[in-house]
Amino acid sequence: MDFSAISSCMQQAHNQPWWVILIGALGLLSLLKKSLSLLNWVWVTFLRPAKNLRKYGSWALITGPTDGIGKGFAFQLARKGLNLVLVGRSPSKLKEVSDGIHSKCGEKVQIKTVVVDFSGNLSEGMQKIEEAIHGLDVGVLINNVGVSYPYAKFFHEVDSELLKNLITVNVEGTTKVTQVVLRGMLERKRGAIVNLGSGAAIVIPSDPLYAVYAATKAYIDQFSRCLFVEYKGRGIDVQCQVPLYVATKMASIRRSSFFVPSADGYARAALRWIGYEPRCTPYGPHSVLWWLLDSLPESVVDNWRLGFCLKIRKKGQQKDSGKKE
Ligand SMILES: NC(=O)c1ccc[n+]([C@@H]2O[C@H](COP(=O)([O-])OP(=O)(O)OC[C@H]3O[C@@H](n4cnc5c(N)ncnc54)[C@H](OP(=O)(O)O)[C@@H]3O)[C@@H](O)[C@H]2O)c1
Ligand SMILES: *[C@@H]1O[C@H](CO)[C@@H](O)[C@H](O)[C@H]1NC(C)=O
Repeated sequence: MDFSAISSCMQQAHNQPWWVILIGALGLLSLLKKSLSLLNWVWVTFLRPAKNLRKYGSWALITGPTDGIGKGFAFQLARKGLNLVLVGRSPSKLKEVSDGIHSKCGEKVQIKTVVVDFSGNLSEGMQKIEEAIHGLDVGVLINNVGVSYPYAKFFHEVDSELLKNLITVNVEGTTKVTQVVLRGMLERKRGAIVNLGSGAAIVIPSDPLYAVYAATKAYIDQFSRCLFVEYKGRGIDVQCQVPLYVATKMASIRRSSFFVPSADGYARAALRWIGYEPRCTPYGPHSVLWWLLDSLPESVVDNWRLGFCLKIRKKGQQKDSGKKE
């Protein structure tokens, strides 16, 4: 090593006014921080091994498993050898998913189905879930059920039925299922809870024309982060997953692409994150978008989003009036 070069460098630094040295040091520090967070991103996104989910228990409970992301989770968790409790509203779709899993993963995966309409009587629904999981070692809970607007609307255009459904399904449903399943996890001192948040609440500064949806997901985010801290000492890992667009009927996107994974592609990435951070976005390209959005001024993102959602509203209204004619 060339010590004379280093010492002459230090000598030079010594000759600079103090504020130049300060700025240089701060610059170096922030560069170091950026590189470390990039390295960490590479590690968690591509290299870090997934947790063995069966260590949490032999059963997983999934709400809303009959379509979209929830269905993706059901297939992926069955592939990992977990038995499933599927909680959905449609008996025929529940049967279809169970049959599909059995034919793909074999008959040794045990599947229980529970019929609950999350926009209906939740005390009755919770009773059914309680009965179904009695004596089962439920180690993984995926709080996936959720509803959004049929299309973008101003808040004053949201009717009372939609308003009630958003809050009952997204907020009350997730909260109550968590409490029902948590009891057994506490007794067994182990468990992993995944709550589906959304980029609508966390990644973009606002989601105009989807205000109530975004607000229910902000609830999910903070709910999860508090529970993460409350229960991490008791062997229970709580996490809010934050997807951006996933190709499902909710997003009205049929075809997947690089930035919009299929439900199955999302779920495959999602399993690798269970049990780690209190908040994460599991699908790699989504975290790149998050980073990009974060580096833009809020007003720019707000304006882009407003324009985007106004277009969705217009299309939705046209479709609606077409239906009526
Ligand atoms: N797709 C995205 O771009 C995206 C982005 C961010 C977050 N998320 C979140 O991810 C979760 C799943 O979304 P998704 O896109 O997979 O939605 P999806 O394709 O519409 O599927 C929703 C699932 O929930 C069920 N469900 C809806 N209302 C119900 C009710 N009242 N009672 C019982 N079950 C009900 C559906 O049952 P049926 O099969 O009977 O309809 C279906 O199984 C949601 O919490 C959503 O907010 C999605
Ligand atoms: C909801 O179900 C519970 C338990 O089955 C019942 O006691 C209650 O009356 C029901 N509530 C409504 C509004 O139907």
